Amino acid sequence: MQKICPLTTEQFITQSLAVNRFWLRIMKEHAIFIRLGLPCDQRELIQVAKFFEAQYDALLKRANAFTEPSAAEIRMFNMQVIALTQQYIAYKTRVLNAITRCEAVFNLYALLMDHVRREAVEFVRELDQLLRGITAPVGFEVVREQTFWTRIMADHAKFIAHLLDPSERGLEKKAQGFSKLFDRLRFQAIDLSDMIAPSYKPIPTLDRFTGEVTEATAKLRDFKKTGRNLIGQCKILSEIPELLADHVLREAEHFLGLLEEHKEMLKSGNRIISIK
Ligand SMILES: [Fe+2]
Repeated sequence: MQKICPLTTEQFITQSLAVNRFWLRIMKEHAIFIRLGLPCDQRELIQVAKFFEAQYDALLKRANAFTEPSAAEIRMFNMQVIALTQQYIAYKTRVLNAITRCEAVFNLYALLMDHVRREAVEFVRELDQLLRGITAPVGFEVVREQTFWTRIMADHAKFIAHLLDPSERGLEKKAQGFSKLFDRLRFQAIDLSDMIAPSYKPIPTLDRFTGEVTEATAKLRDFKKTGRNLIGQCKILSEIPELLADHVLREAEHFLGLLEEHKEMLKSGNRIISIK
């Protein structure tokens, strides 16, 4: 089902830089959130979180500093990032297992750890695809990315609902509404994915569905933006740090960018590379 994608050198470099600049910052921030949620007696896990924070910070600085890199340089860089992120996935798994086995009381939800691990796996998958120059048919990419990201958006809504102060009834209700909406969209994306398998030839309903997902994501983005601004002004009672509010806002903006690519891809039938 997979086919060779004729990536030009320039596309490989541009796309690699875009993927790294987005995800390296996300990975660095995950290390901060994990560190903040670990009990203070978990010294070793805290040290490792600090290690990853420093590593991703250095890699992000390098990714941002590239001006005219060669394909070989970027290839090496991608491989280094994959190697570190594989270690990171193992670390996130350790923390997740410690939570689910009640080894201590963590200030981290199991779903949050699973979520950040899924994002690290996705980062590796994207870099791996770039390195191998392999891509899937348009229909497959569209339903796969929408299934992945609607789940991420549903998770964010759940985290927001559960981290708000219980007195924030109105905001909690709104967040729960988004959680239900994105759960429903995710199930629909899975249904559509199965319906178009195994050829993954897009169907017109996929166009309409992409529009609905875009509309929902734009609304969630606006909700997150308002929330981020109000948290910054200390006008919301919650356990949500401003950095976390900004982090989930950036992910919604990233998904909106992907959805615009999906619309173009469905129209043209071609995989769009390096729009970001
Ligand atoms: Fe996320």
